[in-house]
Amino acid sequence: MRKFILFAFIFTVMSSSLIRAQLPVESPEHKAERMKWWTDARFGMFIHWGLYALPARHEWVKRYERKTNEEYEKYFPLFNPDMFDPHEWAKMAKEAGMKYAVITTKHHEGFCMFDSKYTDYNVTNTPYEKDIIKQWVEAFREEGLGVGFYYSLLDWHHPDYTIDRNHPQSASSDEEYDELNKGKDMSNYRQYIKDQVNELLTNYGKIDIIWLDYSFPGGKHGKGRDDWDSENLLKMVRDLQPNIIVNDRLDLLDEEGGWDFTTPEQYKVSKWPEKDGKKISWETCQTFSGSWGYYRDEMTWKDTKQLLVLLIESVSKGGNLLLNVGPTARGTFDYRAVDRLESMGKWMKYNNRSIYSCTEAPDDFPRQDNCLLTYNPETNRLYIHLLDYPIKRLTLKGFGGKVKYAQFLHDASEIKFGKPRHNVTYQEKLADQDVILILPVVKPNVEIPVIELYLND
Ligand code: GLC
Repeated sequence: MRKFILFAFIFTVMSSSLIRAQLPVESPEHKAERMKWWTDARFGMFIHWGLYALPARHEWVKRYERKTNEEYEKYFPLFNPDMFDPHEWAKMAKEAGMKYAVITTKHHEGFCMFDSKYTDYNVTNTPYEKDIIKQWVEAFREEGLGVGFYYSLLDWHHPDYTIDRNHPQSASSDEEYDELNKGKDMSNYRQYIKDQVNELLTNYGKIDIIWLDYSFPGGKHGKGRDDWDSENLLKMVRDLQPNIIVNDRLDLLDEEGGWDFTTPEQYKVSKWPEKDGKKISWETCQTFSGSWGYYRDEMTWKDTKQLLVLLIESVSKGGNLLLNVGPTARGTFDYRAVDRLESMGKWMKYNNRSIYSCTEAPDDFPRQDNCLLTYNPETNRLYIHLLDYPIKRLTLKGFGGKVKYAQFLHDASEIKFGKPRHNVTYQEKLADQDVILILPVVKPNVEIPVIELYLND
C-alpha cells in the first residue's frame, strides 16, 4: 500500500510537471536588450475601446449593472464608429510624445474588435463590418509607433466561461454557483483564449507588446494560472512572437520568464519596484479621468501639470507611463483627452530629452526639494525638473564638483553658477559639496522648466 502511495505521488508530480510548459529561459542581459526600445520609449498610449463606448458609463458597465447577455445585446447592432480614423489617433499619440500604444482587442465584455473565426461576437458582424484592429495596427505602424494588444482573460459573453466572483451574474452561495455553472466547460474557453491569441499574434504582423488581463486567484470563485493555462498560453505567445514584451497578470509572478514588467495601476509608486531585492521593469497605467472606457458623465479629469509630473516621476523612478484614452462610439477622442494630449505634446516637444532613454538619477546625486531628477546614462546628463519655480537661486545640495555646465533644456540658454551670498546674518552653509545656479526671476514659458546638467566624467 505504502509503495503504491509513493508511486502515485511521484506519478502525480511528474505528470503535472509534464503538462506545465517550459518557459524560455533568458539571461538578464538578453532580457534588457529585448526590452531596450521599450525602456527607452518611456511613454505610451493605452486605448480602451469596445461596445461599452455606447452606454458610455464605464467598461465594467455590464458587471456594475449586472446585465445579462440579452440585456447587453442591444449595443452590438448599434456599433458603427463612423468617424474612426486611426491615422488621426496615431498622429495625436505621436505628437503627445508617445512612442507606443496598446489597444483592447477584447475587453471583459467579450466583444472582439478584430475579425476572429472563433466567434461571431466580433466587429465584422456589426454595422461597421471592418476589422478595427487591422486598420489600427497599420496606421500606428505607419507613424513609427510600437504596437501592443490588450486581451482580456475574463469573458462575460463566452458560454463556457464559468461564473466567478467578478462576473455580472456572480452568485451569493456555492450552490448557486454550481447551479449557474452546470454544463459550462472551462476547457473550451481555455482553448478559445489560445485560438484567439494565436490569431492576434499571427494575422497582424509583428506585435511588440501583449497585455493579458487579468488574474484574481485565491478566495472563493477566483481565477488564476490553471484557469487560463497560463504557462502554455505564454509559451505559445513567445513561440509566435519571440521579441514580444509581456505584462505580469497571468498569475505567473514566481515563474522565471513568466512576465516582463509589472503594472502598478492608477497609483504612483513610492520608489522603483523591486522583486527579491532586484529592481524590476515597470509601467504604470493611468487614466485621464476615472474610467478606462469612454464615460460621458465622469468629471475627474487630471490636469496637464499632474499628468506631466506623473510621467516625469515615473521616469525618475525608472518606469514607463501608459496613459489611457477611451474613444467615443463615433471613433473620436473626447475633447478633454485631445486637450491634455496637445499640452503634454507641447512640453514634450522641447523637453523630451529628459524623458527618452532616461532613468533614475545615480545615488550620488541627492534628491532636491521640489524637483524631480532624471538621468541619461548614455549621454551622462542629468535633468532637474522644477516643479515649483524657485526664486533666482537654486542650491543643489551634494552636487559640488560634479557639474560641468548647466542650461535650460527648452531653449539651450546657459544658466550661470553663483557664489554663496555675503553680508547676511544667516548664511546657508554652502560648502564645496553644493552647486548654486542663478535662474531668471521670471519662470520660462514652460509648464515644468527643466535644467540640463552636463556632468564631469
Ligand atoms: C483592470 C480593469 C480593466 C482595465 C485594466 C487596465 O484590470 O479590470 O477594466 O482594463 O485594469 O489595467
